[in-house]
Amino acid sequence: MAAYGSQAPRARIFSGVKPTGHLTLGNYLGAVRRWVEVDQHQADALFCVVDLHAMTVSYEPARLRRLSRQAAQLLLAAGLDPALCTVYVQSHVDEHARLSYLLECTAADGEMRRMIQYKEKAARERAKGGSVRLSLLTYPVLMAADILAFDTDEVPVGDDQAQHVELARDLAQRFNQRYGRVFTVPRVTRPSVAARVMNLQDPASKMGKSDDAPEARAGIVHLLDEPDAVRRKVMRAVTDSGAEVTYDREAQPGVANLLEILAACTGRKPAELAGEYTSYGQLKRDTAEAVVETLRPVRERHAELSADPAYVEGVLARGAERARGMARPRVDAAYDAAGLLPAFGAVSPSGGS
Ligand code: AMP
Ligand code: TRP
Repeated sequence: MAAYGSQAPRARIFSGVKPTGHLTLGNYLGAVRRWVEVDQHQADALFCVVDLHAMTVSYEPARLRRLSRQAAQLLLAAGLDPALCTVYVQSHVDEHARLSYLLECTAADGEMRRMIQYKEKAARERAKGGSVRLSLLTYPVLMAADILAFDTDEVPVGDDQAQHVELARDLAQRFNQRYGRVFTVPRVTRPSVAARVMNLQDPASKMGKSDDAPEARAGIVHLLDEPDAVRRKVMRAVTDSGAEVTYDREAQPGVANLLEILAACTGRKPAELAGEYTSYGQLKRDTAEAVVETLRPVRERHAELSADPAYVEGVLARGAERARGMARPRVDAAYDAAGLLPAFGAVSPSGGS
């Protein structure tokens, strides 16, 4: 098992996955596997299917509902254990949206417009001839609310989310300075390998869930892909000119990506593996098999869970209940600190005071 993050006892951890498409090998190696192997054991951890975030670009309602259920099933199939951590769906817990508004009153529009992911996604939406939803701009504020509502110490994410976690830190500090200390200032933790798994057809781009271009789709391995589809995609991966297998992200990005995937699946080091290969073909074959074996138990368990929707719904209902109870006092404290008049005598929905 790889060593990750801080070892502080029972830190609070929060992370999430967006149901915008089928989960990929990038999600698994860059995030979910560490949640399963490390985070849920050493921390008080919450893992959330962040469905509200999936509405920031155009989407189809029935598909969103299906993908949200599937993402929850996959998190459980990958090994998140409801006895150890809290798994739930964001829209089931009102505190996220409730806190997001206060943080919109804390953030500045300029800092939102500087977010790399916003710039990229907004450009893509415009290129498709569509308008950009306001929620795409404010998305990192909602993400900050996800994190800050739970007194989170650590946020384990892949590289692409580091800037958003940095913003959550800034907003926590700014709010605390203005209104008194309410929020814990979180920090990002990243995996030591596979923090950024690249598209097999385009090693300059991240392997993302929802890439519409057919060439890009051929470079995305989904967690539920059949073994033969996985093999085909890996065997057709773009490699680099040059005959040697070296681990060099700049000079040989395609080969480096395969080495990182193989390393992440086998618990070895990419540079060390590079020395063991003399041909791209053998590297691809071994990588394909390692990925197939890594995903096999996840696919099998996912099939069992899809046959038992009541179990999954029960886990999500209990998870939401627990998450609500955890977030409510912190969000109430933020409302109070910001000068909003308490609803004296109101009975909270969770039955508390
Ligand atoms: P998302 O798919 O954007 O909801 O991401 C869920 C988690 O997976 C986040 O922690 C991301 O940083 C991580 N992630 C997504 N794609 C990749 C990738 N290609 N490589 C590594 N981590 C990834
Ligand atoms: N924005 C994250 C992503 O695209 C998902 C996410 C939403 C998240 N809220 C979060 C991750 C809070 C960590 C913590 O991957």
